Amino acid sequence: MSQAQLPEDDYIIGASEREIARLGQQHAIWRERALAAWRRGGLKPGMSVLDIGCGPGHASFDLAQLVGPKGEVIAVDQSDLFLRAVEAGAKARGLSNIRTVKADLGALDLPADSVDFIWSRWVLSFLPRPADLLKRLSKSLRSGGVFVAHEYGHYETFGFHPADPVQDRFIQAVKASWRAFGGEPNIAKQLPAMCAEAGWSTEYLTPHIFTTRPGEMVWEWPVGWLKSDGIDRLVELGFLAKEDAQRFHGVVQERADDPLSILTTPLVMEVIAVQGMN
Ligand SMILES: C[S@@+](CC[C@H](N)C(=O)[O-])C[C@H]1O[C@@H](n2cnc3c(N)ncnc32)[C@H](O)[C@@H]1O
Repeated sequence: MSQAQLPEDDYIIGASEREIARLGQQHAIWRERALAAWRRGGLKPGMSVLDIGCGPGHASFDLAQLVGPKGEVIAVDQSDLFLRAVEAGAKARGLSNIRTVKADLGALDLPADSVDFIWSRWVLSFLPRPADLLKRLSKSLRSGGVFVAHEYGHYETFGFHPADPVQDRFIQAVKASWRAFGGEPNIAKQLPAMCAEAGWSTEYLTPHIFTTRPGEMVWEWPVGWLKSDGIDRLVELGFLAKEDAQRFHGVVQERADDPLSILTTPLVMEVIAVQGMN
């Protein structure tokens, strides 16, 4: 299978109008956990928050409301489509404290001591050199500032039970595709070490995983992605055989129709680290 190229401002999952809606649903499902993580990290009104790889801004909007008019959210992404959605969403919500920045995180450099809080969700897995990014961000994070991440730590927990052999091939294809574009699916396992290199001490580390059944809200998180583009894009990009994609679509439908099937989600790790002396 030959592998396709991506446009300069796109990444392996793909930015699209459909993806904006999917990311919104994903945020709605994860919102409670994000809010709890931000509380644990000490998010406060007036803070300057950096949302790296903000996508269409679903978390940025919540963060902007929480830091209030005296605070601000710097929403960084490389996708124009997503950044326009952030701007439109902020306007529709009457939020004037979100600043969008178009940048490749591989080169992002912000002013020194300009940020109190960094939020990173489902983005570090897609970057070739996340450790370098954290080191660069460390210069911008004020002393006592906080880094809070929800990133994949063990993608292999993703699957239907009982398992079908094609789902293992699918998981392998997902991981291979992210790695082919320089990412690391299980990046969160390396985060405490990367934080230490950046001068941050990890204060909190916990896994988030769901076991869910058809008809439940959480079921729609991974299954929504599989149905929207998760399977077919791997075929388009040359990581999954067409026959495997067809077979897996069938498995997804069978499992959704079987009230006894269960699904475990890819393990997300929450990491909270605090800036020491820089
Ligand atoms: C899975 S989405 C997550 C979006 C958002 N953080 C959320 O939780 O809904 C990953 C985001 O990272 C962005 N991204 C990926 N690689 C990037 C890079 N090198 N520079 C800037 N943004 C990047 C994508 O454009 C996309 O918006």
